[in-house]
Amino acid sequence: MTAFMSVTEILQFADDLVFAHQGKHLNDLQKLILKGVYQGKTYEEIAGQSKWSESRVRNIASELWQLLSEELGEDIKKSNFRSTLERVYIESFNNIYIGSNNNFKLTSQVTNKEAQENDVSHKPQSIDHDLTLAPQIINFYNRATELEQLNNWLFKQNTRLISVLGLSGIGKTTLVKKFVDLNLDKFEVVIWKSLHFAKSLELLIDDLLNICKQEAKETLDDKLTQLFDVLNKKPYLIIIDDVQNIFIKGELAGKYKPEYQNYQRFFTMITEAKHQSQVILISQEQCKEMNCLDESLYSLKCLKLSGLDDVAILQQMALKDEESWLRLIKLYEGNPFYLKTIANSIKNIFDGYVSEFLSDNELIITKDMQGNLQLLFDKLSPTEQQIIFQMSDFKQPVSREALKANLELSSTDFINGVESLQQRCLVTKIKGDQIRFKLSPVFQEYFANIYEEKSDHH
Ligand SMILES: Nc1ncnc2c1ncn2[C@@H]1O[C@H](COP(=O)(O)OP(=O)(O)OP(=O)(O)O)[C@@H](O)[C@H]1O
Ligand SMILES: [Mg+2]
Repeated sequence: MTAFMSVTEILQFADDLVFAHQGKHLNDLQKLILKGVYQGKTYEEIAGQSKWSESRVRNIASELWQLLSEELGEDIKKSNFRSTLERVYIESFNNIYIGSNNNFKLTSQVTNKEAQENDVSHKPQSIDHDLTLAPQIINFYNRATELEQLNNWLFKQNTRLISVLGLSGIGKTTLVKKFVDLNLDKFEVVIWKSLHFAKSLELLIDDLLNICKQEAKETLDDKLTQLFDVLNKKPYLIIIDDVQNIFIKGELAGKYKPEYQNYQRFFTMITEAKHQSQVILISQEQCKEMNCLDESLYSLKCLKLSGLDDVAILQQMALKDEESWLRLIKLYEGNPFYLKTIANSIKNIFDGYVSEFLSDNELIITKDMQGNLQLLFDKLSPTEQQIIFQMSDFKQPVSREALKANLELSSTDFINGVESLQQRCLVTKIKGDQIRFKLSPVFQEYFANIYEEKSDHH
């Protein structure tokens, strides 16, 4: 079997699942069992290499399968543990992209690390790019300005920490991967990590050290020093995708979950410590550390992605009525994920005729979009929900005063709420003779629908 996931990755994934289930990490024996099973060993062999008896190994293993089965809702046993976890892992990635043209695939390429695990002849170890978790980009349109911007920051200004922000589906992952593909030869080592399944900073650092062929030290402090030593020796590019998953639900944007609080320190260290590497964070939500107040003082930049404004993105989708395409793109804010799913519906229901779809004059929220918007909605704090509710009443961009006049919120709550919505890219500021705020029309429509449903129930 080609190693799709390394033993470390499998262990981490299993640890995430176990932690989600019982709030405790895997213990030594559990890890030993999973590692052994991953390597195709029998319980007898696993016990033989440990201080535990075979019956103890069997009991703990059967508890572990039970626990994983409950967490995944599937029957997990020794024989299918590895294949099921790998499948679930891939599926969980692909689910986000349902309805897309399947541009996203996890490459099943074997990383250097894994190749070496299979290689018994311990050659001197060199580190290579680790892009196992990065998507493969097949179609890519526009974004020349953004690519140029990244180019400038990384190569001319030597910026250490770049955050790429934007709404879900706007194309952050795609853009950064495209950039990496174009510039792979300029970095000694490129490592792509994802917090799609959020994990502790310690696990992430362990993982990074592992890729860099370092035996991780005991404490987190020592591991951090160790990592920054490595980052100081060679120019690494580390990408951390889906950073929004370490932030708390139901509160203002960019607040760390308690168990991930130390990421804050890590991000700050990247801008302050001495090293010659660079990190790109990809996130739907901005945190304080991604917001640079004084760009001259800190080696920190932030790229907020907005939608595509070119019909090129629709060319691969076999739609008709090219003269209407631009209107369709405007309606869906140029969000490639929205456009892909709506293009599918237009093909299914309107036989591809975009003008017919548009003549209904309605913004349609597809099932795929609903799932995606629901996740965004669930993350909002009550204050933000109130503000959005008020905003969705105004069909046009609204001034601060007009918005505030209709809300029973203290000035502090109001200002923090609007700022937080901006940090989630749900509300944008429009400059003119007066500053106005605009709610994403797609989100507005979604919100209006759920509100209607609620009032129907009452
Ligand atoms: N420039 C582009 N050209 C063509 N297709 C694109 C482009 N940008 C994004 N897409 C497509 O749009 C979809 C969403 O893009 P992507 O996954 O990069 O969004 P994202 O911002 O990372 O979303 P999320 O925050 O949910 O991870 C993908 O199917 C991708 O192929
Ligand atoms: Mg993404």
